[in-house]
Amino acid sequence: MKKNLETRAMFAGHTPSPANEFAVKPPMHPASTFVFPDARTGAAHMETAYGVQGAETPPEGFIYSRLGNPTLNLAETRLAAWDESDDAAFFSSGMAAISTALLAWSGADRPVWYVGPLYGGTQHFLDEVMPTMGREVRAIAGLELLNATLEETDRALPGIIYLETPANPTMQVRRIRSAAEWAATHSTPDHRIVVMVDNTYLGPILQRPLDEGADLILYSATKYLGGHSDLIAGAASGRADIVAKVKEFRTFLGGITDPWTAWMLARSMETLHVRVERQQSTTKRVLAHLRDLCGPQAVRSAWVEDLATAGLDVHAAEAQQKGGGAMVGLVVPGGREGAFAFLDSLSVFKLAVSLGSTESLAEHPASMTHAGVPAHIKEETGITEGFVRLSIGLEHPEDLVEDLTQAWKIACDVATLAV
Ligand SMILES: Cc1ncc(COP(=O)(O)O)c(C=O)c1O
Repeated sequence: MKKNLETRAMFAGHTPSPANEFAVKPPMHPASTFVFPDARTGAAHMETAYGVQGAETPPEGFIYSRLGNPTLNLAETRLAAWDESDDAAFFSSGMAAISTALLAWSGADRPVWYVGPLYGGTQHFLDEVMPTMGREVRAIAGLELLNATLEETDRALPGIIYLETPANPTMQVRRIRSAAEWAATHSTPDHRIVVMVDNTYLGPILQRPLDEGADLILYSATKYLGGHSDLIAGAASGRADIVAKVKEFRTFLGGITDPWTAWMLARSMETLHVRVERQQSTTKRVLAHLRDLCGPQAVRSAWVEDLATAGLDVHAAEAQQKGGGAMVGLVVPGGREGAFAFLDSLSVFKLAVSLGSTESLAEHPASMTHAGVPAHIKEETGITEGFVRLSIGLEHPEDLVEDLTQAWKIACDVATLAV
């Protein structure tokens, strides 16, 4: 009988056997290079990697750790197990994964259409960097505008449709299936439209973009996949041919994960579901408290109650999410002054960027993670001066509630004094 997902993911990539002394845990291979059994095999490996015409097909094996490594294979097998994808690729950061995937599947006749808002680094790469590389990039306000955009562009099909859902930090939710169905209808045998989804905020436990028809999932693995604020990594996971091209580009752009980080990721993924489920249940408690204390209008999250209050897409969330995750936004009174007073008063929450870790984190997107986003986009998307972002960790829920309550009161006092 096929085992359940948690069980399959726990053992993916490592089986205790005589080859590994029956070690219950996998070894780590720091080697940068691997010995070829003979020169002919070495030539077959290298010529295949470089796409030399007429190269002999090499046997399974490793060449050099910029192309692949046994410990990396372990982590990639484990992520593919969680996502139930054909294949996965790890990178040295989330941005390395995102930029490599975008470069691999875009081109002069393959524009990128994205539905913002997006994580600031991705948005900058798309708006400022890709056009300098001959890529046409177009921001679309919503997926309902795909047909209108096609008319506007004289029916020039996109090569990529890129989404981030829920969006960091404003929680806009996009219906992945709408993008995938549109892409499937408009793709032709010579022009495949690739749908990419940044699933960093929810991860494989809470949202499964491939089941919704997406082709490639992207992650900042620095967040929930790593989950302990002790590594930087990224990942791409999805359909075999889509990942294969991304891996080919990774070889030449060079942004692969090192073996130590890969080993840490493989270890962290064993507890992914337990961490995320606990972070979600604590978040429910925190959100219920914040809605009472601060009023529902002040609270943002990807849970349906808060999406409804903010006028965001509740139906998409209900259709594709298993819960709203563990990220919270709070609009503090008194603008930047109130928000800073709130952040400086927290003691259990740590004032730091990043998210998805064992410890709870708090930050001010307008001046920190999204400092580089143009003012008009911040305004349109709700990244106001009073907005703070919270990432809920594994501390006791009541300690978090108490910490937030005292900080909120201080921020309210500051806001009243400022009037
Ligand atoms: C949604 C999202 N995507 C991508 C990234 C980039 O990841 P990294 O910092 O690992 O490069 C981040 C980082 O915060 C993020 O929040």
